Order: sequence, then structure tokens, then C-alpha cells
Amino acid sequence: MQNFTYHNPTRILFGAGQIGSLRREVPQGVRILLTYGGGSIKANGVYDQVKKALAGFDLLEFGGIEPNPTFEYLMKGVELARQEKVEFLLAVGGGSVVDGTKFMAAAVPYQGNEWDLVGRHIAPRSALPLGAVLTLPATGTESNGNAVVTRAATREKIAFSSPLLFPRFSILDPETTFTLSSRQVANGVVDAFVHTLEQYLTYPADAPLQDRFAESILRTLIEEGPRTLADPTDYNARANVMWCATQALNGLIGAGVPHDWATHAIGHELTAFHGLDHAQTLAIVLPNLLWVQRTPKREKLVQYAERVWEIRQGTEAVRLEKGIIATRAFFEAMGNPTHLSAYAVGEERFPEIAERLEARKALPLGERKDITREKVLEILALAR
Ligand code: NZQ
Ligand code: ZN
Repeated sequence: MQNFTYHNPTRILFGAGQIGSLRREVPQGVRILLTYGGGSIKANGVYDQVKKALAGFDLLEFGGIEPNPTFEYLMKGVELARQEKVEFLLAVGGGSVVDGTKFMAAAVPYQGNEWDLVGRHIAPRSALPLGAVLTLPATGTESNGNAVVTRAATREKIAFSSPLLFPRFSILDPETTFTLSSRQVANGVVDAFVHTLEQYLTYPADAPLQDRFAESILRTLIEEGPRTLADPTDYNARANVMWCATQALNGLIGAGVPHDWATHAIGHELTAFHGLDHAQTLAIVLPNLLWVQRTPKREKLVQYAERVWEIRQGTEAVRLEKGIIATRAFFEAMGNPTHLSAYAVGEERFPEIAERLEARKALPLGERKDITREKVLEILALAR
């Protein structure tokens, strides 16, 4: 096992009715900025619940944060927060709202070009404190220090992180997710599944506990994903998926083991160029990446096929391939196509994606740094 430091400071308040606890969680006597997205929280009553819980608090609002939040729009919120001397940010919504709010938290006190926090990965020295009410289980942002922001002007989508950006608390009420479309539910399950694989499907690190944590998340998502899709108001299915998504990217399963993240890096480019949902890109890239990387990932792929999909018959090569086929079939069954042909993405884009990654010095990718420009092109070609 590799050395690691593990510290997750986010307080999780999980379950129906927990929005009422907001009063106790936000600091008293400070000006709060409530941030949200395109209006789903107004349509499903979450906004009303939050306002009720915080009646009497000094509360301002900044709505309209887009899916795949943009630097340009978030800067309006940064200016508002500076002008109004906001001291606490409360994000209410999905991963985009929480990520966008994390950017604002770092940008408000930052003196300099705020894009540098993202584009040049300048570590913020301070940040406003933030809390979250999560309405879409997927990203794990409710309990990590990461955020992904897009610069619309240049179509760059970039992840950054800081220990200062962990939410102080996150409220996870599965009932808030009942109004999600099946597309967003599928996206959430696939995103959490791929987060787990990016930290598990690498090479053996003699870390059996992390492996079994990861396998438990994967098996639970395989069971609960279709259940939650079939009945949007099945509270326990929603609760199980929600807790899986948090556990998939809160640092626990990734402690002391190698990470991949190549699927995410390639996927972010597809979103930046073509506007595909984050998890739609992952469903397309991952199965093809696993196939291209089947030799360096052989040992973990065989373990994955056996322990997650119960594939025990045939040679190693057969079992490994069956595991990849089962993964693809799971994404498709959840409603996420695994080929680019389902979207309007032409082959002419592939070299541009590889060049982008190269220009950003992101290549070679992967846990062994062996996903070169040529392999990126091979993965995209297979994904056609
Ligand atoms: O904007 P509103 O009106 O709120 O609608 C949203 C949005 O249109 C809607 N929605 C959210 N909760 C809902 C709801 N609709 C009905 N009922 C509800 N309860 O869903 C749509 C998508 O929301 P979004 O927040 O964009 O989705 P998600 O949570 O999947 O977040 C995706 C973003 O997170 C980033 C992605 O790259 C993408 O930008 N990621 C962040 C990570 C992190 N911080 O650790 C890791 C991930 O790998 C990922 O990259
Ligand atoms: Zn993701």
C-alpha cells in the first residue's frame, strides 16, 4: 500500500427531513449567499424548504448556474459576493452548482486573475466557507475538495482542487432526488461507477480493504441502479445510490492506491467541445479505454470480472473481456449509449482532443502514465 494522508472534514446529514437542520449548520449572524442552478429547486420544493429552514437569516441569492458551470457566469456571483460582503456560501443543487460555488468560494478573496485558480492550478490561500444541499447523487463533490469549471470563451473544461473547498457540511436527502429525469439518474449511477473504477481498475497495490470497499460500491450500484430507475420514488433505492456516490469520491477508496482518471480527462474534452453530459462521455470512453489497456490492467480486470460480475468460466483473456462487455451492457441498460455515434461527434475532432491534452501537458495519462497521444486516438476510434 502507498503512503497517504486521509482527512475528510465534511459533516454529512443524511436522510429525509434533514434540510430542517440547516438552521443549526450555517453560521449565525453572517450574510449568506444561496446559490442554485436553472430552477429545478424551485419546481420541486427544495428552495421552499431551504427558505423555511433559514427564515430570519440574512440570505441573498445567486441562481442560474449552468450544468458544466462557466467561469464567465460564476464571476457574476463572485462580484455579487464581494459587493455584498457575503461570508458563507450555501449551494443547493447538483454537482454543477456545488462545483460552481466552490470556485466562487476560492475566487472571492483571491487577488489576481481568478481563472488562474483553475487554468494554472494556483492553490488558493483562503476561501469562503461553504455548505451544500445536494439534489443529484453523482459527483461526490458534496464531500470532496474538487470542482470542475469551464471557460466558455476557449471551450476548456478543467478540474481543480483544494483542501479549503470541502463543504463544511452537506445535506443529503434522497427525497430531493425524486424529481430527477431518468437521464440524470443514469448519469449519476454511471459517474459514481466510473469514479470507483478510476481508483480500483489499475494494478494491484496490496490494498485488499480498498479493493473490497470499491467492489462493494460497484455491486451496490449494479443492484440499486436499475431499481432506482424503475421507481423514482423508491426511497431506499435512491438513498443507497446517493450514499454510493458520496463514498465513490470522498477519498476513502482512493487512499493508498494508484489512480487512473484518463477516462475523465478524455471525457472532459468531449463535454467542452460538444456539450455531452459528463457521464455520457464516461460511458463512451471507459469500455474502450479498458479494452485498449487490457494488458497493463490485466490483473485487476480479472479480479473485477470475478468479484463484481461473478465471471469465473474460461481463460483469463475470456473472463477479462466478459467483464468489459458486462460493464458496457450495464451502462447501456441504464440508458447511457457507449458509442459516439449516438451523439453528433465526428472523427475530425479526435486529433484536436489529443492535441488539447498534449498542450495542457496532461499526456501521458493513466496509472502507469502509458496512455499516449496514440492511445487516446485509438480509444476514440474504437468509441465511434
Ligand atoms: O440547474 P437545475 O435547474 O438545478 O437542473 C439540474 C441540471 O439541469 C438538474 N437537477 C439537479 N437536481 C435535480 C435536477 N432536476 C430535477 N430534480 C433534481 N433534484 O440536473 C441537471 C444536471 O445537473 P448537474 O449539476 O450538471 O449534474 P451533476 O451533478 O452530474 O454534475 C455534473 C458536473 O460535475 C462535474 C462534472 O464535470 C459536471 O461539470 N464533476 C465534478 C466532480 C467533483 N467535483 O468531484 C467530479 C466529477 O467527475 C465531475 O467531473
Ligand atoms: Zn465524474
